[in-house]
Amino acid sequence: MSRDELKALVAREALKHVVEDAVVGVGSGSTVNHFIDALAAIKGRIEGAVAASEASAERLKKHGIRVFDLNSVNELPVYVDGADEVTEHLHMVKGGGGALTREKIVAAVAKQFVCICDASKLVGVLGKFPLPVEVIPMARSHVGRELRKLGAHPELREHYRTDNGNLILDCHGLTILDPPALEAELNNIAGVVTNGIFARRPADLLLLATPEGVQARRRKR
Ligand code: A5P
Repeated sequence: MSRDELKALVAREALKHVVEDAVVGVGSGSTVNHFIDALAAIKGRIEGAVAASEASAERLKKHGIRVFDLNSVNELPVYVDGADEVTEHLHMVKGGGGALTREKIVAAVAKQFVCICDASKLVGVLGKFPLPVEVIPMARSHVGRELRKLGAHPELREHYRTDNGNLILDCHGLTILDPPALEAELNNIAGVVTNGIFARRPADLLLLATPEGVQARRRKR
């Protein structure tokens, strides 16, 4: 099975967790694109969606799925999103597509975070995938210096602005042994909007696509 087929498989599996007659939170990325396409088949059974990126909002609208502003939604029972890396503790690195800030906001509102990945994303320790950090443009050099003090090698994502008009520094060379602690520490640097560690609000359920089928792992509390 190709990687794309695995993504499509896990995306279809996630439909089982969508709550009927409610608004569903939708992340971004190639796995989520499969989820959006699958969601179109049941669009009559949901109220609509909140999207974590402009690209996802466009795709939802093309399928005729109503897109709500997060501020107009009181409850979000489920949020479905991919990850660049995920651990057994359901801590994640996200933001490869640059949508980390809105993803973190929608995830914060949602009751249940369902992470959908192919098995290549499961890692023992986070950090091999360069950690994205969204930065206010005027703080770029300051944040870069602070990140270097923490042992990271930040690289400016070339020719790129986030949906919020900010920059991304991709941090190479980190071994993230304590994800909740580093997540908080990075967020404390003046000029950082968000970083791509999702550990303080981890996923609740990981659906992992393998050639043998989809494995479900629930977060231990
Ligand atoms: C987007 O900003 C990311 O957080 C995505 O969720 C992540 O990059 C996974 O994307 P793929 O499904 O394309 O691998």
